[in-house]
Amino acid sequence: GWGAGETPVLLKAVNATSGAAARATWLKTELQRHAHAYYVLDAPTIPDADYDALFRELQRLEEAHPELISKDSPTQRVGAAPLPEFAQVQHAVPMLSLNNAMDLSEVVHFDRRVREGLEREGDVQVEYSAELKFDGLAISLTYENGLLVQAATRGDGSTGEDVTQNVRTINAIPLRLNTDVPPALLDVRGEVLMYHADFASLNARQREAGEKEFVNPRNAAAGALRQLDARITAKRTLRFFAYGIGRLETALGGQRPATHSALLDWYAELGLPVCTERQTGLGEASLARFFEQIGAKRAHLPYDIDGVVYKVNRFNEQERLGFVSRAPRFAIAHKFPAQEMTTTVEAIDVQVGRTGAITPVARLAPVFVGGVTVTNATLHNEDEVRRKDVMIGDTVIVRRAGDVIPEVVAVVAEHRPATASAFVMPLHCPECGSPIVKPEGEAVARCTGGWLVCGAQKKGALLHFAARRAMDIEGLGDQLVEQLVDRGIVNHPADLYKLGVSALAQLERMAEKSALNVVAGIEKSKHTTLARFLFGLGIRHVGESTSRDLSAHFGSLERLMSADEAALLDVTDVGPVVASSLVAFFADPLNREAVSQLQAAGVTWAEHAPKSATSAALGASLPFSGKTFVLTGTLPTLSRDAAKEKIEAAGGKVSGSVSKKTNYVVAGEEAGSKLAKATELGVAIIDEAGLLRLLSERTS
Ligand code: IVH
Repeated sequence: GWGAGETPVLLKAVNATSGAAARATWLKTELQRHAHAYYVLDAPTIPDADYDALFRELQRLEEAHPELISKDSPTQRVGAAPLPEFAQVQHAVPMLSLNNAMDLSEVVHFDRRVREGLEREGDVQVEYSAELKFDGLAISLTYENGLLVQAATRGDGSTGEDVTQNVRTINAIPLRLNTDVPPALLDVRGEVLMYHADFASLNARQREAGEKEFVNPRNAAAGALRQLDARITAKRTLRFFAYGIGRLETALGGQRPATHSALLDWYAELGLPVCTERQTGLGEASLARFFEQIGAKRAHLPYDIDGVVYKVNRFNEQERLGFVSRAPRFAIAHKFPAQEMTTTVEAIDVQVGRTGAITPVARLAPVFVGGVTVTNATLHNEDEVRRKDVMIGDTVIVRRAGDVIPEVVAVVAEHRPATASAFVMPLHCPECGSPIVKPEGEAVARCTGGWLVCGAQKKGALLHFAARRAMDIEGLGDQLVEQLVDRGIVNHPADLYKLGVSALAQLERMAEKSALNVVAGIEKSKHTTLARFLFGLGIRHVGESTSRDLSAHFGSLERLMSADEAALLDVTDVGPVVASSLVAFFADPLNREAVSQLQAAGVTWAEHAPKSATSAALGASLPFSGKTFVLTGTLPTLSRDAAKEKIEAAGGKVSGSVSKKTNYVVAGEEAGSKLAKATELGVAIIDEAGLLRLLSERTS
């Protein structure tokens, strides 16, 4: 028998397991809740490190009690062995495609056919649901009793590939639907895609590993989804948006949504990612409005879309309209102009920048891309030309997104003609004839002419000097600078302060009134700050933030100009590269001359005593003292300047590039390489809400 007061061994084990079971259930629910907040609602609830700790605890529990492992455990997203090939899947309900409307008249035509099909009288409008056309890959997810059991690609619409193992690695896709009364069977249709930021960090990793980079997020997503080894897919962050339905079997009395918009609302309740950029409206006028609205937002979205989709909202009306061949009559895709097109490279020239940097530029056969006709695309630098292997005569993919400078994305290798020729970096600057050199270990070749000799550099330097964040000279744009330099009227920044209205009024496109404005703008710029003045000088590696640091530290131009490298290194955030660039700049008599001429012309600013120990100590007590932030992408509500102001007011610094010294990267939409760099270096990444939270925590 069992000794008195002794818990039976067996019972003890059961107790331990049931305690573990309860804990495991709690952990699974917690992890699922946080993943949902992060991936679906875009509103993180805990720091990554805390999530990881919970995840590891669950892993340890499951190791000790393997019977607790369930198919919907977040630890089970990766685990299956690599497949020899994908199995085929028959779609019970076919996955159709959409007809396209290329302009508004085709949308009007669509709406007319819909009204005819529904036999609408007079001007009774149809209710539509409008949403985004995601540029990814269609997928069908099958949930049985709420559990994800299968995921299949679209394939030819009737037969796709079983990519269940890969799809289980997508954290945005729930392994179990968030409901106590799941439908017996549900096929969720939607799009798998990759966010820009995840695409950028993937490509950064590919580049580092010497692997081929992906052309665009869509190709990267396709590549990730088609891996036979799900462990590779798991390393590439994919996302998902639900937009449609296949089969739905509910228990007796189970409700079915009556409209497309209600379906998407239901999906969101079930924990499926549904894009919030969607609207219902009446008639084609509402569709046109949605198209305009999204067109304006497109460049700020964190992922690619290639248009919007309009669907008749009521399912009973959809059924009445039916299908023509493989596309529904009740829906249409209204496409944006393509952001990527192919064309041919007719020549590769070079352009000279403000610092003498030589940029190879592809001259293209005109192509309509991103809504404009493009004839030039940047190739960035010589290494990039080699890496992308662009030759003159090649067919290339050109991309123009938003206001971004068009670029050559990739070469279509199989279209290379036998006559294709390689780009050769010229030996001399096309603008001034000075030798071009590429310092050992640097990516960029430069004209050695300097800004006094080389017209291109001179124009660039003047435009930089006049820029809004520098001397802020209103009215001094590139066309004016072009003429002033070409006619030899302005050679030095100081020459600007000698310009009179009559000299200006003689230039092309320059009426007396605008000449007056320019002169007034120049005059106004005389009263400036040391930081603006320093930034305006265009000293290499000395950006706006460094200029401000230097000004705050030294308080006077004289003290700065006489500082040696050691003294410069005392300034917060100034490293050896910046220090030696400053020393070299002020050692050049031409630069010193330019500075004193500007002062002689009347440019002034207030000076102050050098930063004292007390002011430094005062700074150290502010909430963000000693913390460096990097801003990237578009923040939802704060402008970049506003965010910067807030950080600086709290004693923090805003830097332009991510390094190990960076404390936080504040990432918004369209964040690119800086985010990738931060991920790489393990720097904390926060969003605008996170920044505001930090501010309120630390100031309260
Ligand atoms: S609905 C019955 N909605 O576009 C209608 N498709 O040409 C089936 N797509 O293969 C599609 N966003 O990959 C629908 N909001 C959206 C979409 C969308 C992107 C893709 C999908 C499909 C293709 C149709």
